[in-house]
Amino acid sequence: MYNFKYEVGTKIFFGRNQIVNIGKEIKMYSDKVLIVYGGGSIKKNGIFDATIEQLRINNIEYFELGGVDPNPRIESVREGAKICKEKGINAILAVGGGSSIDCAKAISAATKYDGDAWDIVINKKLIKNAIPVFSILTLAATGSEMNGNSVISDYKNNLKLGTRSPLLIPKASILDPEYTYSVPHKHTAAGTADIISHTFENYFTSEEGGYLQARMAEAILKTCFHYGPIACREPENYEARANLMWASSWAINGLISDGVANNWSVHPMEHELSAFYDVTHGEGLAILTPAWMRYVLNDKTVNKFVEYGTNVWGIDSSLDKFDIANTAIDMTQEFFTKELGIPSSLSELRIDNKYFDKMATQAVRGETIKGFIELTAEDVRKIYESCLL
Ligand code: NZQ
Ligand code: ZN
Repeated sequence: MYNFKYEVGTKIFFGRNQIVNIGKEIKMYSDKVLIVYGGGSIKKNGIFDATIEQLRINNIEYFELGGVDPNPRIESVREGAKICKEKGINAILAVGGGSSIDCAKAISAATKYDGDAWDIVINKKLIKNAIPVFSILTLAATGSEMNGNSVISDYKNNLKLGTRSPLLIPKASILDPEYTYSVPHKHTAAGTADIISHTFENYFTSEEGGYLQARMAEAILKTCFHYGPIACREPENYEARANLMWASSWAINGLISDGVANNWSVHPMEHELSAFYDVTHGEGLAILTPAWMRYVLNDKTVNKFVEYGTNVWGIDSSLDKFDIANTAIDMTQEFFTKELGIPSSLSELRIDNKYFDKMATQAVRGETIKGFIELTAEDVRKIYESCLL
C-alpha cells in the first residue's frame, strides 16, 4: 500500500428529514446562496419547497439556476458564475443528482476565476479558489456529494471532461434516502451501474497490498447487487435506497482507492459515448463494462477475475480459473441487463460505428489508457465495436 493523505471535509447528514441541518451549515459561510438544480423533479417531489423553507428559517437569501441538464453543459456553468459574481453570492447549494452537484462545483471555481469557465474544466491547476459548495442529494450514483470531482460537457465540440480539486469537495451534504423514492427505474438502474463501475475501476488493479480496500470494494459490490434490483422493484424501500445512497458515496470518496493504484479504464471510454451521443452515464458504463472485462481477461489478469467471481458471486473456487472468470463476467452482464433492465448493446442506444475512431482517439487523450491493462486507441475502438452486437 502506498502513502496517502485521507481528508474528505464533507459533513454528511444521513437519514430522514436531515434537511433541517442545511441552513445552519450554509449560514456559517454566507447569507446568500445560489440553488442549482436540474429539469424540475425537485419541484414535483417537494424537495425544492423543503429546501426553501430551511433557507427562510435561517434568513438566507436565495437565487436560482434551474434547468441543469444530465451531462451538465459548460453554458450552465458560465450562467451560474455570472449570477454569483453579479449578486455577490458566496455559497452554492446543489439540489439533485451528480449533474447538478458537478455543475455547482464548476460554478464555485468559475466564480473565483477571471477567465472563461471552460479553462478550469480542462486545467484543474487553474482552480486556486472556490466558493463553498453544499449538496442535497436526490439520486444515488456519482458520489459527487462527497468528492472534489466535476464532469462538464461542451457539446459544440463533443467534449466531456472531468476536473477536480479539494476546494470543490462539498462542505456538507444531506443524504435523505426518502429523497430518492421518486427516482424512476431507468435512473435507479443507471445509478446502481455507476456505483458498481466506480468500484470496479478501483478494484481491478494489478497493485498488491490493498487487501482491505479490495474487501471494502467487494462489500460495496454486494450491496449494489443485492439492493439495486430491490430499489428498482420497490422504489419506496427505505433500506434499499439507504444502502445504495451510502454505497454511492463510499465507492468514490477515496476510501477504496487511496493506497492502491487506480487508473480508470471504462469511464474514459464512456465519457466519449456521452460526449458524442449524450447517453445516460450509467447505461453507457453497464454496456461497456462486460465488453472491457472480456477484452482484458488474459493469463496475467485472470487471478483478479477469480477473486471477484469467488468472493462476490460465490462461484466454486475449485473450478478452472478461466471458467470462473468467464462465469463472473457473464453474471455481471446478466445483472445489468436482466436484473436492472439496462440495454445490452450500443445498437440499442442507436449508436453505430460512425465516430468510433474519433471517440477512441479522444478517450486515450493522444496516449493510452493506463488502466488495469494499458489500452491503445485501437483497443478502445475494438471494445466499442464489440458493444454493437
Ligand atoms: O434534472 P432532474 O429533473 O433533477 O431529473 C434528474 C435527471 O433527469 C433525475 N432525478 C434525479 N433525482 C431525482 C430524479 N428524478 C426524480 N426524482 C429524483 N429524486 O435523474 C436524471 C439524471 O440525473 P443526473 O444528475 O444527471 O444523474 P447522475 O447523478 O447519474 O449524474 C450524472 C452526471 O455525473 C457525472 C456523469 O458523467 C454525468 O455527467 N459523474 C460525476 C462524477 C463525480 N462528480 O465524481 C463521477 C461519475 O463517474 C460521473 O462521471
Ligand atoms: Zn461514473
